[in-house]
Amino acid sequence: MRVLVIGGGGREHALAWKLSQSPQVSDVFIAPGNPGTAEIGTNIPVPVEDIDRLVNTAEHHRIDLTVVGPEAPLAAGIVDRFQARGLTIAGPTQAASQIESSKVWAKAIMNRAGVPTARAERYDTFEAAADAALDMPLPIVIKASGLAAGKGVVIAQTHQDAVDSLRDMMVERSLGDAADEVLLEDYLVGLEVSIIGITDGTTILPLLPSCDYKRALDGDNGPNTGGMGAYCPVPSVDPELMVEITRTILQPTIDHLREQGIEYRGVLYAGMILTPDGPRVMEFNCRFGDPETQVILPLLESDLAELLYASATGTLADVDQPSWRNGAAVGVVLASGGYPGDYRKGMQIQGLADLSGDLLAFHAGTDKDSDGTLVTSGGRVVTITAVEDSFASARETVYRGISGVSFRDCQYRTDIAAREVLS
Ligand code: GLY
Repeated sequence: MRVLVIGGGGREHALAWKLSQSPQVSDVFIAPGNPGTAEIGTNIPVPVEDIDRLVNTAEHHRIDLTVVGPEAPLAAGIVDRFQARGLTIAGPTQAASQIESSKVWAKAIMNRAGVPTARAERYDTFEAAADAALDMPLPIVIKASGLAAGKGVVIAQTHQDAVDSLRDMMVERSLGDAADEVLLEDYLVGLEVSIIGITDGTTILPLLPSCDYKRALDGDNGPNTGGMGAYCPVPSVDPELMVEITRTILQPTIDHLREQGIEYRGVLYAGMILTPDGPRVMEFNCRFGDPETQVILPLLESDLAELLYASATGTLADVDQPSWRNGAAVGVVLASGGYPGDYRKGMQIQGLADLSGDLLAFHAGTDKDSDGTLVTSGGRVVTITAVEDSFASARETVYRGISGVSFRDCQYRTDIAAREVLS
């Protein structure tokens, strides 16, 4: 199989890395990829937004399976375009990917499918939303309905904050069209867990649960980011709870969509809170999580290419449940100083090539300068992942490895997976 991975972050590096281990995969191409993916496959300098060129690339390189990393090309209809040209691609169609690109649509699906989720109301004017917010208990979750590059959710701690955020989104239009509609939601309390399943629209095979860390600083302080680390599995989501989550959340969602004429294929990612009353969905995403993928795939023993090809071709019922190595994976994101605010690029990265063999480095914001030196080129630079028999030893290994990697102003959290060791 010749495989094309679309995207250029740590998630796509992890996907390409795992796919390249499949005995069925002869060649891996990555568009656009990064210096890390260049070590395991062939990078093709086509941006993820350029769907015309991606289709042509897949035809030119006789690709048998395309795997899409980020949500934007899915929401733009890349799957529909590939399918129209007879190309096999793992991912939801534009209609199905509304599960992420329209929070209003997703909430309606959850409610109609009977999926447990936070109570929410939809508003399409600032005045109505602000009026309603003033009557809600604190904190208030405000969600822009559309895609907003991780900036679409605000947890307002005061009514004034809620009104200010709504004005910012709906009057000042800080998120553009994304906040033409908003949801005001009840705040859920509990551990946040990512549950990711691979589906062909009828069968869904859940992967191991994982937790990510969205805040920039230790102790869940500081601003929200694209993700500063993750770990897998999650001990409080035991096999019985995974069965319950699959039965009450993942399966009813794809069944309901199928009944509505939407065959959801690819990856369904439920971001959920384990409340005292049981798991509740916070949001759905239509793709693998980042950085969750960088800790889930190192534990996967099954053939990812087989799973994703079956999801794309509607044959997942013929595939065994994924199998896993025992142990724990801990991934820590090294970020540029100042991220998620302003940061400098072009800082020389040292020590990555000398990482010991028990560590994985998944590149994101890296680049090669004119003389081939590895430098920083983004906010999140690289995820370092360790897999060990326990969280304690995975944490020890990953932080020992990180101490040998450096670039100017490097920042990272020191508490990834600490709750699984200290508690
Ligand atoms: N880790 C959160 C996300 O991928 O959306």
